[in-house]
Amino acid sequence: MADVTRPPQADLVIVANRLPVDRVHQPDGSVSWRPSPGGLVTALEPVLRANDGAWIGWPGSADDDEFEPFVENGLSLIPVALTAQEVEEFYEGFSNGTLWPLYHDVVAKPEFHREWWDAYVAVNRRFADRAAEVAAEGATVWVQDYQLQLVPQMLRAQRPDLRIGFYLHIPFPPAELFSQLPWRRQILEGLLGADLIGFQLPGAAANFVRLVRSRVGHKTHRDTIYLPDGRPVKATAFPISIDTAGFEELARSEAVTARAAEIREALGDPKVIFLGVDRLDYTKGIYSRLRAFGELVRDGHLDVEDVVFVQVATPSRERVEQYRILRDDIERLVGRINGDHGLIGRPAIHYLHSSFPREEMAAFYRAADIMVVTPFRDGMNLVAKEYVACRFDNHGALVLSEFAGAAQELRQAWLVNPYDIDGMKATLLEAYAAGAKETGRRMRAMRKTVVQNDVAKWARDFLTELETLPDHHDKTVRTTPAV
Ligand code: ADP
Ligand code: F6P
Repeated sequence: MADVTRPPQADLVIVANRLPVDRVHQPDGSVSWRPSPGGLVTALEPVLRANDGAWIGWPGSADDDEFEPFVENGLSLIPVALTAQEVEEFYEGFSNGTLWPLYHDVVAKPEFHREWWDAYVAVNRRFADRAAEVAAEGATVWVQDYQLQLVPQMLRAQRPDLRIGFYLHIPFPPAELFSQLPWRRQILEGLLGADLIGFQLPGAAANFVRLVRSRVGHKTHRDTIYLPDGRPVKATAFPISIDTAGFEELARSEAVTARAAEIREALGDPKVIFLGVDRLDYTKGIYSRLRAFGELVRDGHLDVEDVVFVQVATPSRERVEQYRILRDDIERLVGRINGDHGLIGRPAIHYLHSSFPREEMAAFYRAADIMVVTPFRDGMNLVAKEYVACRFDNHGALVLSEFAGAAQELRQAWLVNPYDIDGMKATLLEAYAAGAKETGRRMRAMRKTVVQNDVAKWARDFLTELETLPDHHDKTVRTTPAV
């Protein structure tokens, strides 16, 4: 049961579109909470826990009356309500129908609608107003992701005493694509309200700096932008990560070990289990990977007596048309592959359209021999890192798209181009045929990277940088929040 309390003014405020929990209305009229989906929550929850700050966000359902701040599972949460029309125009519309595809290499066609933009401005203002109320004098406010790119500027206008950081969890596109956006200048200026802007990769930070120079006309030097009033803004890369030790501990637990064995047994103890775990999103390349696997079975390279593919797909953005179409396409493909090649008790693909607790995810990771992560474009991809974190036994192969941010760190994965189905088939077979020595060598190297660069380091690096930037107003250097 959630406690209802007034939040004290906080020294660290996280502002994200979603709260780390979603409000679920039960049929009997009661309300419960469940963890909200996606990598942002996975990454930031431990940071807030370590810092005793406040988290401002949307509770995930439309038209809830504005309700009071509350504490859930030790986290101080401050809800921002959205009307049904705002969910449609701000969340499904501008955030996920315009920005999401535009920032992911236009894998789907972005739509530009002026009413969506108006809703984006209005909702960003509401978040900024809430942050201005909650932040203590001189506090650090850390704004998250593409849904809230105008908040830094709006917040600075009200509260120039704050340190404002912004982190983009998804890719930032090259100028050639970003320039399609009718509101490109407003977005750039919105972000420039921050003192520090973090991106997943150096290429994304460079895209941003170049755009600010060419579209807004500010002076830049390397990763720093100089505003006309002399305030510097730093734009640089901080690759995000996971709670590596936490995942490993979970994976080592007796319960997860037993559950992993149970999963293998329930699947009929195949020689090799392939696994995919994604939000059901068209950027993730789920259709292409299943096609590649299906063709390998069809052509006799893989036999359903020996192998199975488990695809876990978390429901996501289900009212957006492109997501509905994707779901239908994938489900038709799974049905066709199983219909053509499955045997009694031996389907080629197990498809689970559902969300699972973290323990169950760890058990899947431990049970899987080959983890297949094939996005067309992904800011980072935490699933790839979670798999590596759980493989303390140094077994297991990671097949990873070169277009995932994670590929820049996990160089020892079997890298693939997800647009190249034949290339993907060849790489899946290579990973399938690899011996324990080869997979062990690769896994050990990747584990070193994920252990050294965990989410605590990511947050510490970002917040330390933010806190030690010279203060434009009073030239003080402040203390860094604990992470
Ligand atoms: P994105 O942020 O685009 O969803 P990431 O791979 O970076 O992609 O992060 C996804 C997060 O969601 C991971 O922490 C992963 O464990 C979690 N996740 C993915 N699928 C499921 C699922 N079916 N049930 C529970 N958690 C899931
Ligand atoms: O990382 C990208 C992201 O959009 C996050 O902002 C979000 O937590 C996650 O994916 C899930 O998306 P949504 O909040 O739209 O369900």
